[in-house]
Amino acid sequence: MADAPADQYIEIYISHLTRKDEDFVSGFLFAQGALGVSENLDFTQSDVRFNPQVKLKNELRLIGYFPIETATRELTEKIKSHFPTASVTVIKADNKDWLEEWKKGYEAFQLSGDIWVVPSWKPVPPEAKMPLFIDPGMAFGTGTHETTQICSRLIAEYLQTRKCESAFDVGTGTGILALLMSKLGVTRIHCSDIDEECRRVSQENFEKNQATNIEWSEDFSRSEGSWDLIVANIIDGVLLDLKTDFRDHAGPATDFILSGILLEREDSFIRDFLKDWPLTIRKRLAMKEWVGFWLTPKR
Ligand SMILES: C[S@@+](CC[C@H](N)C(=O)[O-])C[C@H]1O[C@@H](n2cnc3c(N)ncnc32)[C@H](O)[C@@H]1O
Repeated sequence: MADAPADQYIEIYISHLTRKDEDFVSGFLFAQGALGVSENLDFTQSDVRFNPQVKLKNELRLIGYFPIETATRELTEKIKSHFPTASVTVIKADNKDWLEEWKKGYEAFQLSGDIWVVPSWKPVPPEAKMPLFIDPGMAFGTGTHETTQICSRLIAEYLQTRKCESAFDVGTGTGILALLMSKLGVTRIHCSDIDEECRRVSQENFEKNQATNIEWSEDFSRSEGSWDLIVANIIDGVLLDLKTDFRDHAGPATDFILSGILLEREDSFIRDFLKDWPLTIRKRLAMKEWVGFWLTPKR
């Protein structure tokens, strides 16, 4: 049987190195017993999509990962004697199952009216008359993010005033918005996601909630039929990329509920999304730095 991982390990942060020495320093750290070495990078995100870019610097900063028993004082001295410009910081880190740690703090909460999101491994609180069981795994869609809450509120409001038989949830994540629509009585729901883990997690959540009226579509652009409502909570740049697909699949009476739009890009998003498309804003909802819309065709 494999040994259980130690409770702690050592991280050695080394800065003020020169980039050309990268291979040499890494090789040196492995020779001293490192279990792994990574570069300590800074990132920037200038684009609207989730597309972080590395800030290039001449200075090289590395992190060496060592077993907890490592004699850190001797190792620090060795590093400094081989690389005199280097600054060295030693940290004792806990080896944790981060997903399990996070799960302890995820509590049931009211999503909309009687519908409560309930972590599937926790008891149902008495107030949760209509529990919606979610195990998010590594997928987006715990229900706590502002954009999911914006969509949930707009969906509930839309369904109070409209008869909706068919809806598509583009970028379903954990499946939370598809499940909400199913609980609120939408008869036929389709969903899609480009991420394989989200497809696996959401399918499990559909089963946990016995939501037999939610079906998977491989890809929204290839889905058949048109929809009363299309919901998409995806970052604004991707929503703009999807605009042509949305138009192709919208019937004359299709409404949209969209979020994932940063307030700072609201004006440009609305200008580009509504350009040459006769939709009007039926409702706008903002929370913290996010905004979402219920868009309806001009009648
Ligand atoms: C912000 S999460 C929203 C998850 C969930 N609908 C919610 O509201 O909590 C966006 C999801 O869209 C998916 N996604 C991103 N681009 C997509 C695309 N072009 N088509 C389908 N899904 C996409 C991501 O994998 C992610 O699961």
